[in-house]
Amino acid sequence: MNTPRPLEIAVERHPNPTPADEIAARLTNPVFGRVFTDHMVTIRWTEGTGWHDAKVEARRPFQIDPACAVLHYAQEIFEGMKAYRGENGQISLFRPQENAKRFRNSAARMSMADLPEELFLRAVEALVDIDRAWVPGGDGSLYLRPFMFANESFLGVRAANEYIFCVIACPVGPYFKSGKSAVTVWVSDQYTRAAPGGTGAAKCGGNYAASLIAQTEASAHGCDQVVFLDAAQHRWIEELGGMNVFFVLDDGSLVTPPLSGTILPGITRASIIELARKEGLTVNEAPYSFDAWRDDAASGRVKETFACGTAAVVTAIGSVRHTDGEFSIGDGGEGEVTRRLRTLLTGIQRGKVADPAGWVWNVKS
Ligand code: PLP
Ligand code: COI
Repeated sequence: MNTPRPLEIAVERHPNPTPADEIAARLTNPVFGRVFTDHMVTIRWTEGTGWHDAKVEARRPFQIDPACAVLHYAQEIFEGMKAYRGENGQISLFRPQENAKRFRNSAARMSMADLPEELFLRAVEALVDIDRAWVPGGDGSLYLRPFMFANESFLGVRAANEYIFCVIACPVGPYFKSGKSAVTVWVSDQYTRAAPGGTGAAKCGGNYAASLIAQTEASAHGCDQVVFLDAAQHRWIEELGGMNVFFVLDDGSLVTPPLSGTILPGITRASIIELARKEGLTVNEAPYSFDAWRDDAASGRVKETFACGTAAVVTAIGSVRHTDGEFSIGDGGEGEVTRRLRTLLTGIQRGKVADPAGWVWNVKS
């Protein structure tokens, strides 16, 4: 039997790439998600043909029909991952195979085309390679945004028969305003992010669209992020608008909400669980209620709380606001366990700490 040849990704370099001095200027304190590199990867899928027309090309706007399905029914998924520049100049990714797997799971939930993991990885690597000059050193990184959308021009409600997969990249610094050692969060008691049987575990744009009203409410209350509670009882803490959450208790153990199907299975979350256990800490994936959080913060049982995700890395939560008031966690700054886990994780990601689990993927040139 003949094995099908892997789809080749053609490379069409940007005719006028950004000069090195201009790249250097744009890499200085970039605002998250505002500065983009010169290239993008696109791969098309149509029913009957499958994946085809794979290329790295100059970043440019898409031309889509006004009836393009994604504009009407939000059939869209995405990923978030980062490329790091090590001290020796080596550029690496962190557990990209996990993003490739999660992308397939999201696609399955949204009835979209199945992108082979190896093609996802080659596409991401091709973009990082061609735009390697844009990978910041120091504490910065190149945020990669692989995504896929339904591109069929059709207003009937069914899974589309045409998709575009694309990868874009932007150099980033911290997600939250720099200088903050801890963020303030708003607990939404009115809006929920996901319900059982819904799309909470998929990384689809619609989940984020639905969360924006709560994020706007959070901003109006001077908060950086929203904490969502479960849809059925408005009692159990689920996750933040764009990150998972951990609680550090006074016996040194950690608690994080379980993967119940309504939260995103974060790759940072999974990594923190493994790292903490290797460090000898107990981690319980167990439901934890908002009432318990408030009471435990007051009694001192909860010492620290942190958010984690690709964009946020590991960020301490210092204060919590809700309809009936506000409370602080510990002294309102970054706690010791949070700092230790953040240092360990970022150390591995940036090649400064040994990587026994083989999480670091060196990008070939
Ligand atoms: N939860 C949500 C809703 C997110 O958007 C993210 C970010 O991707 C995460 C959790 C954390 O996931 P990861 O650690 O894979 O970036
Ligand atoms: C990520 O961390 O990759 C996300 O998608 C979250 C968002 C806040 C940018």
